[in-house]
Amino acid sequence: MTAAPATILRQHLIDPEICIRCNTCEETCPVDAISHDARNYVVDAAKCNYCYDCISPCPTGAIDSWRNVRADAPHSTADQLTWDSLPAQAPPEALGAGIEVGAGNTAVEMPDDVEKIAAASTAGQGGTAPPPWSAAHPYINLYGIHAPAVATVSGNFRLTAEDASSDIRHIVLDFGNASFPVLEGQTIGILPPGLDANGKAHHVRLYSVASPRDGERPKYNNLSLTVKRVTEDHDGKAAQGVASNHLCDLKKGDKVNVIGPYGTSFLMPNHPGSHLLMICTGTGSAPMRAMTERRRRKFAVGESLGKLMLFFGARSPGELPYFGPLTHLPREFIDMNLAFSRLPDQPKRYVQDLLRERGEDVARLLKDENTYIYLCGLKGMEKGVEESFTALCQANGLDWSTLRPQLLQQGRYHVETY
Ligand code: A2P
Repeated sequence: MTAAPATILRQHLIDPEICIRCNTCEETCPVDAISHDARNYVVDAAKCNYCYDCISPCPTGAIDSWRNVRADAPHSTADQLTWDSLPAQAPPEALGAGIEVGAGNTAVEMPDDVEKIAAASTAGQGGTAPPPWSAAHPYINLYGIHAPAVATVSGNFRLTAEDASSDIRHIVLDFGNASFPVLEGQTIGILPPGLDANGKAHHVRLYSVASPRDGERPKYNNLSLTVKRVTEDHDGKAAQGVASNHLCDLKKGDKVNVIGPYGTSFLMPNHPGSHLLMICTGTGSAPMRAMTERRRRKFAVGESLGKLMLFFGARSPGELPYFGPLTHLPREFIDMNLAFSRLPDQPKRYVQDLLRERGEDVARLLKDENTYIYLCGLKGMEKGVEESFTALCQANGLDWSTLRPQLLQQGRYHVETY
């Protein structure tokens, strides 16, 4: 007799290596599925109803962790409290073949799709695709909320035109004698001062570093951020972003509490001949600026480098952070493609439109195993970019649905959208 197939649960977990223990998830969870002890935050599989309320407030993405397990044997909270890192994904044969799917999922075929689920969840939600094989070692969690590093503001410059609708700023933080090593693509956490309406400390907000690993100014112990002053919520209603307004209002000499660094995935390759295909909108340009500047410094001293291709979307030149410096970069250094959506008397253009227009060149890069793709900015662009990849691949003898999971698995496709 054949045994009845097991039911697979895509178990919701918290990555203890990335979690900064800020309590945001526990406060957010409407069904009290999340709890903690002095060591870890954990999710009770029997209580989690997959509402996803906790996912977006988490400042580090530690909450966006999933493992396929047998539904009759999920990781218990007692086990999770002992973890220093997430367990490896159990192979399909250990889970059993021909399986249904547990709470919160659409049905999938087993066993092949177990990996696909894992890969897909890393792409859409900026999760844990491996870093490029040649990425440098990132340091993470050096400073936590109870012992933050104190940085001093050494610059705060407006990047957008005076008449632009958005106030986007380049903020330089100096760490003095504190060691705060970061790589391009990593993020840091800012602790806004003061208390919220309930008398609690404000939640941490994460910002991508906009400077390369050797500092905003080489050999200085500093880094920069690209921060947009938030004045409305996603629905366009007036709302003051606590951390962004705190940062944008800072003056030279002011002190800022910083935690982190974070990020072990969205990192740049280090090997010679590696190409970067970068696609961004707005402040999603921060990691692209860091990577471009890292490469520019190497280019300036004559190092031989792979190609850089950038697709950058903004409403107009005046709204595009770093517009001036970007347009001065030599063409042989970077292939730049700027998409403007609100120019008078011009049709709306998005990054995905330019990707299609440059389809042949993009496809040539996609065919090269040394190409690494980075997507950062508005969540809405993700769908359009994926559609453009699908179309341009089809027109150039590639199949995006086959290529995409390979790129993810090889740490060559990194997505961070919000
Ligand atoms: P739009 O003019 O339609 O808002 P923002 O200035 O709001 O940060 O946006 C940066 C750029 O991203 C703008 O040009 C904006 O165009 C564009 N954008 C908005 N939605 C999408 C989308 N779904 N895909 C690609 N780009 C988008």
